[in-house]
Amino acid sequence: MRTPPAIHFKDIEQVFPGKSGAPIHALHALDFRIERHEFVSVLGPSGCGKSTLLRLLSGLMLPSDGQVEVFGSPIKGPRDDVGIVFQRPTLLPWLSVIDNVTFPMRHKYGRVTPDDRKRGLEMLDLVRLGDFADKRIDELSGGMQQRVGIARALLLDPDILLMDEPFSALDALSRDEMSFELLRIWRERPKTVLFITHSIPEALLLSDRIIVLSERPGTVRDEIIVPFARPRTLETMADPRFTEMANSIRRRLFSHPVDGGEA
Ligand SMILES: Nc1ncnc2c1ncn2[C@@H]1O[C@H](COP(=O)(O)OP(=O)(O)O)[C@@H](O)[C@H]1O
Ligand SMILES: [Mg+2]
Repeated sequence: MRTPPAIHFKDIEQVFPGKSGAPIHALHALDFRIERHEFVSVLGPSGCGKSTLLRLLSGLMLPSDGQVEVFGSPIKGPRDDVGIVFQRPTLLPWLSVIDNVTFPMRHKYGRVTPDDRKRGLEMLDLVRLGDFADKRIDELSGGMQQRVGIARALLLDPDILLMDEPFSALDALSRDEMSFELLRIWRERPKTVLFITHSIPEALLLSDRIIVLSERPGTVRDEIIVPFARPRTLETMADPRFTEMANSIRRRLFSHPVDGGEA
């Protein structure tokens, strides 16, 4: 039998009760798969249901119809094998860097064991913050704080990493730097990644495949296989095919512009 994909959104419908009475149809007949250790970006206009996808996959919410499967089993509730990184790192400013990284253990089990701390320190080394373990969060730059968020998401060594526009609050230079850092981390610790973004170049630089969603109700409009060899570098972005692909994706989206538009 074929191994099931790491992630399968199976014919998903998502309807929310609207504030003024009319229901909001957020996702419609949405169906796609992600293979194990594949890096897939989801690109789409604001409000098309990208963050909803992430909540469905983390088990925080069940779909109105259809189901989300992880390695062939339907998601029925919150799970530990999925790490999440949000746009804002949601760190606790009164705790040190290492205490933020191990916070999920304290939250879940009420305590942090020496082993948890050891693993936390390893993750900080992985994101190159090994020397900052005892610093306070407000002593770190935005990019460094996002690294702490990544270390925390990787603490339990999840097979799946979900990222919801994780670099979009950073300045352009930190954003590029963090993209390459993420690729390095993904090489050192292979994961199945679902990366949500509204930046076309970011999606092209990072991904094996790009899923383009329509406007709300979000459904798969396009699927793009990214042909560039790995490891991706600054040269990848300088490749004329990179600009060509970015332009062609942008043209296809033109009638429904992607939010931000800076891409
Ligand atoms: N809990 C909710 N209740 C009502 N409407 C919601 C809820 N969550 C999301 N929505 C609506 O569903 C649509 C998709 O939301 P979201 O997934 O956050 O979009 P995106 O991340 O692509 O910008 C939006 O119109 C949003 O207002
Ligand atoms: Mg969102």
